[in-house]
Amino acid sequence: MNRLEANSDGIARIAERLRGGEVCAVPSETVYGLAANALDESAVARIFEIKGRPHSDPLIVHIASMEMLAQVVSSPPATLEPLARAFWPGPMTLILHKQPVVSDLITAGLPTVAVRMPAHPALRRLIQECGFPLAAPSANPFGYVSPTRAEHVALSLGDKIDWILDGGECEHGIESTIINLCQTPPVILRQGPIQPEMIEAVIGIFPGVVSSAPATTATPQLSPGTLPRHYSPLTPMQLVSQPQLSQADDPRTAVVFWAKPSYSCPANVHWLTATGDMAEAARNLFDVLRSLDSANYSTLVFQMAPDEGLGRAINDRLKRAATRT
Ligand code: TXA
Ligand code: MG
Repeated sequence: MNRLEANSDGIARIAERLRGGEVCAVPSETVYGLAANALDESAVARIFEIKGRPHSDPLIVHIASMEMLAQVVSSPPATLEPLARAFWPGPMTLILHKQPVVSDLITAGLPTVAVRMPAHPALRRLIQECGFPLAAPSANPFGYVSPTRAEHVALSLGDKIDWILDGGECEHGIESTIINLCQTPPVILRQGPIQPEMIEAVIGIFPGVVSSAPATTATPQLSPGTLPRHYSPLTPMQLVSQPQLSQADDPRTAVVFWAKPSYSCPANVHWLTATGDMAEAARNLFDVLRSLDSANYSTLVFQMAPDEGLGRAINDRLKRAATRT
């Protein structure tokens, strides 16, 4: 496996691989993605193989311009333009009607396609240099914790892919907000950095939020967010609103506060943020989950974040991560 720095040379070499139909891991401002030419069906098929992902789970198409959007999307609703102007490039994925050029493999047979214009400068340049949109799910084995550093990708998929573009640590650390614009009012299918209030401020409508629709891997997912189990470590997880320090008496239990306690703690007590900054907690969430999962604990006790702002997106992932079935 080759890890290339996200400078112009690295970007050019990855673009060449993608043009040749290969699958490469790429950085984004949310999480790392496993990318292929969205218009090359056999390259897209490899993504599903590498991830072990069921074909019922559709992929996001990443674009670098509104011209590229027009290639893949038809009859855009009036809400598209103001949302795109406000939040693209950025961590917002929109569900829109697809053009015939977008394969059923990408959309799991749905008439709609998920589209995002990412903000990470290296990924933007890569898509521009390719000249075609990139289909990319998060670069983790299906169901496991999403990757926010190149090391995470190397650890869990390094034997299955040949190329990683290393763009450093992901800025947001949780996946994009997914909004279905084919419904009125629009509905948030997966919570993320773009919050319902921010959407309301732009379109004047408070979107619906899908919390946890019953779903199985056998039927097309509305959103990965609708799978009750997702982002899951192998170590059993327990969620609490207020952890007790006595839970840390057992050294095989890790206790994770969302924000660092003001008192001194034993070594098996951890936190998502030292300062109480929710954006920092989101950025660290998957990294903390992964490192504790490989640290030989028998249980991970996680404190839920305050259920407001970004805390809602963090708690959504914690709940799915803790789900066993
Ligand atoms: O931040 C992100 O969105 C990252 C980066 C790499 O862009 N990508 C990501 O992809 O999280 P993934 O595959 O892990 O999650 C995308 C989810 C799919 O699981 C799927 O359920 C939903 O988006 N999705 C894709 N197409 C859809 C469609 N036509 N209708 C509804 N949901 C769709
Ligand atoms: Mg994913």
